[in-house]
Amino acid sequence: MALRFLVTAAIPEPGLTLLHDAGEVTLRPDTPAAGLQALCASGDYDVLLSGLGDTIDAGLLAAAKLRGVSNYAVGFNNIDVAAASKHGILVGNTPGVLTDATADIAMLLILGTARRVVEADTFVRSGQFAGWNPDLLVGSDVSGQVLGLAGFGRIARATARRALAFGMEVVFSPRPPAERIVSDAELGEFAGKVKQLPWTEVVARADFLSIHVPMNAETRHLIDATVLAAMKPSAFLVNTARGPVVDEAALVAALRNGVIAGAGLDVYEDEPNLAPGLAELPNTVLLPHIGSATVPVRAKMGVLAARNAIAMAKGEMPEFAVNPDAFKA
Ligand code: DGY
Repeated sequence: MALRFLVTAAIPEPGLTLLHDAGEVTLRPDTPAAGLQALCASGDYDVLLSGLGDTIDAGLLAAAKLRGVSNYAVGFNNIDVAAASKHGILVGNTPGVLTDATADIAMLLILGTARRVVEADTFVRSGQFAGWNPDLLVGSDVSGQVLGLAGFGRIARATARRALAFGMEVVFSPRPPAERIVSDAELGEFAGKVKQLPWTEVVARADFLSIHVPMNAETRHLIDATVLAAMKPSAFLVNTARGPVVDEAALVAALRNGVIAGAGLDVYEDEPNLAPGLAELPNTVLLPHIGSATVPVRAKMGVLAARNAIAMAKGEMPEFAVNPDAFKA
């Protein structure tokens, strides 16, 4: 029987052709939750190729007659992985290919918040620019400032590489709020160039605090009112990881009251909705979850997601499984 793929993420070429060459492809972008559950339970598909907008929860997975779910993303907080494992459903993701693109966006948000790029752009477009003025839109330095990293995985390291090139001092906590020591061997190229500190010290020392942790029960609201209050009033928060890591209502209050200087966000707690008041704050740079959004990166993600899906549909172990324990040969 032909391999059967249900595709809700609009993956680009050449991933789509890989799937078409391997079997039958049913494209169902924007399927509402109830409809998606019914499709997954129908027995008409071997694998669901999903996007971050799909909620693959325990109820869907209990009813699903699927071999696997191939997520078109490196993050998989939209999927209840424990429930997938319980039901013998493999989950795949797309690591590695979006590291640099996402670190570019983190660096862009560091520079953009420091130099007030959104305010400056709005100023010019609205016809207010009347010539050079010593007081006009004066911002903060980046060079010589301290970048604090929450997490020290692939994207954090790529951000550190960029920050070092900009003359920043880089400090990090590898798995906040827990304390874990990273050995010099694990630090690799960064040994002697970056400094690991207890999480509370990273927060207190950072001129820019950039989030690079996965979203899970331990990291939900890692950045809350207490952490924001412990930051320097001149500091900026940058989040390119997952929205719920930040208590967005607390962030809005902190930005309004001068508890911190500004924030650059690519992700939101209740995406695509923004916390009330966030969009009105001038000291923010707000992007629509575009960390991986370059043409080549999205193509590579599509290929990985397609390859994972094809392997799962064939009953093989995919290249990138987040729950290899669910594999039954
Ligand atoms: C991911 O892959 O998890 C990003 O958030 C979107 O590409």
